[in-house]
Amino acid sequence: MIDFDKNLLIQKAMSVRENAYAPYSNYQVGAALLTNSGRVFTGVNVENSAYPVTMCAERSSVFKAVSEGEREFAAVAIATSNGGTPCGSCRQVLAEFGLDTLVILVDENGLVTEEMTVAELLPKAFTPSDLV
Ligand code: THU
Repeated sequence: MIDFDKNLLIQKAMSVRENAYAPYSNYQVGAALLTNSGRVFTGVNVENSAYPVTMCAERSSVFKAVSEGEREFAAVAIATSNGGTPCGSCRQVLAEFGLDTLVILVDENGLVTEEMTVAELLPKAFTPSDLV
């Protein structure tokens, strides 16, 4: 695990959360994903009037990072109003890139409500190694 400033990652997740586009659920989510190379990619949930098209904050951050050539992630801070946990699709997408990524959940006050690895979030995950 690289050395990183957990509070800074949390701050980035909380501040990007303000950009969430969530007019339907009114449940804003912000994510800040730290790569093993030390870069941070943020993401927010982006809802759509065609509801299922909505994209979650966690996957937004992963897709941004992968688009920029990053595939190894040390940690992700996720900010919501109440410390809600990542949905199943986001767990699966995080698992694709590593089970050891640390997931830090914070509420709107910046209080860490839970901290766990992707492996703990998604036990017995189906990963690329299952395909060989
Ligand atoms: N949401 C996320 O951004 N991440 C999750 O892991 C859970 C759900 C978003 C999707 C939708 O915009 C809103 O939260 C309510 O489901």
